[in-house]
Amino acid sequence: PDPGWSVTADVVVIGSGIAGLTAALRLKEELGPEGGKVLVVTKDRLAAGSTRWAQGGIAAALGPEDTPAEHELDTLVAGAGACDPEAVRALVTEGPAAVHELIALGAQFDRDPAGELSLTREGGHHRDRIAHAGGDATGAEIQRALIEAVGRAPEIEIIKRALAVDLLLDGPAGEGGVAGVTLHVMGEGQRDGVGMVRCRAVVLASGGMGQIFSQTTNPVVSTGDGMALALRGGATLRDLEFVQFHPTVMWLGADSVGQQPLISEAVRGEGAFLVDDAGDRFMQGQHELADLAPRDVVAKAIMRRMMETGRPHMWLDARHFGEEKWQRRFPTILATCRSHGVDPVTELIPVAPACHYASGGVRTDLWGRTDVPGLYATGEVACSGVHGANRLASNSLLEGLVFSRRIAAVLPGELRPWSEPATDERTDGLVPGSVRRGLQDAMTTRVGVLRNAEGLAGVTDYLDDLAATPADLVDLDAWETTNLLTIASAVADAATVREETRGSHWREDFPERDDATWAGHLDVRMRDGAT
Ligand code: SIN
Repeated sequence: PDPGWSVTADVVVIGSGIAGLTAALRLKEELGPEGGKVLVVTKDRLAAGSTRWAQGGIAAALGPEDTPAEHELDTLVAGAGACDPEAVRALVTEGPAAVHELIALGAQFDRDPAGELSLTREGGHHRDRIAHAGGDATGAEIQRALIEAVGRAPEIEIIKRALAVDLLLDGPAGEGGVAGVTLHVMGEGQRDGVGMVRCRAVVLASGGMGQIFSQTTNPVVSTGDGMALALRGGATLRDLEFVQFHPTVMWLGADSVGQQPLISEAVRGEGAFLVDDAGDRFMQGQHELADLAPRDVVAKAIMRRMMETGRPHMWLDARHFGEEKWQRRFPTILATCRSHGVDPVTELIPVAPACHYASGGVRTDLWGRTDVPGLYATGEVACSGVHGANRLASNSLLEGLVFSRRIAAVLPGELRPWSEPATDERTDGLVPGSVRRGLQDAMTTRVGVLRNAEGLAGVTDYLDDLAATPADLVDLDAWETTNLLTIASAVADAATVREETRGSHWREDFPERDDATWAGHLDVRMRDGAT
């Protein structure tokens, strides 16, 4: 579409969670007052993304006994042989300073009576290393602190309720570098409708794509827009098949769709345990860490027991916490459970796995660079290599912090000259919002925790059919649904190709990990409009 309006900025940051706002703040600092304009673009309000929903916390070697080397080892083990060791090294060694910087910025983490950071444990960690805030409202506190910090930096411009549609490139996709980005702004006065930002660099920090499934912990805005935009712009996506399913999402019934309530791993970290209908603690004997095994192990054990017993969910037992501990440690989860008619002080919580996190995304190097000149990516939208086949709990907030700092360290020194957008020759059309629900159901049934060749082939055919349905209205729903379809197809393709079971990718027809054939990565690119 023709842009109706145009603005300029040296750097556009797309997304306003921990990755986006950290990038904007650090970039502004590195660029200095005269060094260039930073513009943040966000699809909704600043706090609408995944960051504010994060419960358990942020992992870093912050305790007196802990070391980055131990955090590194736990991250590599969880990643099931698919992590980039150098990226993991950067994450764990720079992590503690990055968290202290967040504290200096104003984020208030929970502390023990001696004033030290209170640290808890989650699945796959051999140490207490998860810092948390407000008990179980860590993301909300981080988001608050970052929004306030951006409020103190009025030179950072913000455009809200703006979907980033596509990159403008100074050459054909696959060759051209960043010259701008088109936006679809909803109801913001002068800048309403489709417009264009001319810029010299784009930092993608737009989060994940959990809404490709019908049950997810992700908010409604997580529609894979950044991954789809990057793919159309010539970037490479990597590790898309490694979609992480959180083991303990509150089960609200088979008809409940969209964002579902998370029951943090920290609840198990504090002593809660899983049981089946007969009260059997089925995680015992499955793994040395039992209920605190890495989350792929726990999710699979729950699914197995669900299949064996024919039940749609298992149970989490934390009744022994009592009212006081529930109120002090997990006030958000307590209130959420009660709002759904379950009192965890006296009752078991029904739980089942649901989509939680994209371990893959836009492939980057150690400094957040993608293979499109001028395009950087950080946070869940990126595949920096730190998560491999299965992200270690609470490493995601940390990834956003560390890699946004890294981008800010290099980007000012490699800002490209202003360039002219080449003619946009892409012809791919939009699909209507009405196909969204069918897409989500098909992905959940066929590309969920359990995958096999037959189901994957069926879903690929189904998604191909959806792609032939033209949208009659160009609105946010159509843009988002088109992005969901692009990314769902790419995830299904990658899941089809990887004929082994590794981390969060579980093939029923290839149940073993196969290092001889599948130690490498699957990269997805766009060719002739298809992935
Ligand atoms: C949780 O609190 O269980 C989520 C932590 C995470 O996904 O890293």
